[in-house]
Amino acid sequence: MKKEDRVLEFLRAAGKAYVSGEKISERLNVSRAYVWKEIMALRRLGYRIEAHPHEGYRLVGIPDRLFPDEIARDLGTRRVGRQILSYKEIGSTNDAAFRLGEQGVGEGVSVFAEHQKKGRGRMGRSWVCPKGKGVLVSILLRPILPPVEVSKMTLMAAVSVVRAVRQATGLKLGIKWPNDILAGGRKVCGILTEMSAELDRVNFVVVGIGINVNASARELPPGATSLKTLLGKKISRVEFARALLREIDRDYERLIRGQFGKLAGEWEEHSVTSGKHVIVRTIGRKLEGVAAGIDADGALWIRRDDGLQEKVLAGDVEHLR
Ligand code: BTN
Repeated sequence: MKKEDRVLEFLRAAGKAYVSGEKISERLNVSRAYVWKEIMALRRLGYRIEAHPHEGYRLVGIPDRLFPDEIARDLGTRRVGRQILSYKEIGSTNDAAFRLGEQGVGEGVSVFAEHQKKGRGRMGRSWVCPKGKGVLVSILLRPILPPVEVSKMTLMAAVSVVRAVRQATGLKLGIKWPNDILAGGRKVCGILTEMSAELDRVNFVVVGIGINVNASARELPPGATSLKTLLGKKISRVEFARALLREIDRDYERLIRGQFGKLAGEWEEHSVTSGKHVIVRTIGRKLEGVAAGIDADGALWIRRDDGLQEKVLAGDVEHLR
């Protein structure tokens, strides 16, 4: 542990009790002046530390900033979040995670950002989220899967997001195939899965997730909403980020153990697409019919108006009725 982190740990361990500067300096074998300097530095980062003339210091609040150490606290995951990086500002977390993949970094590394200057969405769209109000994360994974099965990773992430939101807020969100997370028809979260692959094998996958957490309605693009708007109050992004990494870790474990069937079942439970009359747009194609649900490969089956059934693995869906 770094020297500066030890002051914070000391305060944390004391819980609601005050600890004197003298005690901290003795235990950590540093000067009283050093302790004071660290307290000031922690306050600048947003930690709320009360100072009492006779009693000492007490930690009364942590900042809602996506600091790696805060997210990693009691995380307990096996793979996802083994290494956490967090940027105040970045182009796109997906690009950063992709570069790490190319450099051979191990799976599970999770790249967070408070703000993206070039946040990317699916189909060449951009992803916009006001500074410090969302959870924007890209996770590098190295599943042993053929490239055609990578769409399973997107469906997996959608299920993980729905469960994490449920845990953190009690809200029940719906999934629009393949990966939009909606509440009352408005978008709360988008997922962008990208991969590096050979013809027959995947080198690595980056699952990028953007969730509108504490943005207000006027800060978001039309058709979008946030957890804060839905709940009527702000939520802790750090706690939510932790819940999300835990759920993805759990679902990824299921996926690589060949249990996609379980995930597909959960996906169906939350699907707002199955049973709807839809138009699906894929590259150079348009398909219309009733969405019948997903199969064991994660493909969406469409019952066309002429009675024929067709499956699609990627595309954009418009719900008609
Ligand atoms: C979509 O709905 O079109 C997908 C949006 C995905 C946005 C996230 S935010 C974190 C990660 N970094 C990016 O540049 N995009 C994804």
